[in-house]
Amino acid sequence: MVCPTEGTTTLELMTWNDRYSVGIGLIDSQHQQLFRLVNDLNAVMMGRSESGKTVTALDRLSAFSAAHFAHEESLMQTYGYPDFRRHKEEHDDLMNEVKSLRRDLLSGYIPLELMTAFLKDWLLNHIIAVDKQSGVYLRAAGLE
Ligand code: FE2
Ligand code: FE2
Repeated sequence: MVCPTEGTTTLELMTWNDRYSVGIGLIDSQHQQLFRLVNDLNAVMMGRSESGKTVTALDRLSAFSAAHFAHEESLMQTYGYPDFRRHKEEHDDLMNEVKSLRRDLLSGYIPLELMTAFLKDWLLNHIIAVDKQSGVYLRAAGLE
């Protein structure tokens, strides 16, 4: 008998949708990669594998987030985005939050599901409310 869930993507927590697009190709593809890394982290957790693997998946997400934020910030600075400071503050807050989540994870203090739910919500809210705004400005400046 074939298991009905075998081979499906039931572990996918985040699914890309065009309404998340900021209209700039490289930023969208980096956001899609962030979705994949959150899904990877979630999959490791759902597999209930040893915590070391969870920390590795979180570190991968954290490293890629830092690179993505640096990329967005350099574009905003290059094109003189007026709301740069507030946008960067959100990035910095998230990176600090991830550091604290990592500590909580290592000490077994935080339920794993809460961590992925937080990361998913943060990412979606940030893309929709903040990245899209800077996307409008950058597109008007000629980026695509
Ligand atoms: Fe972003
Ligand atoms: Fe951003």
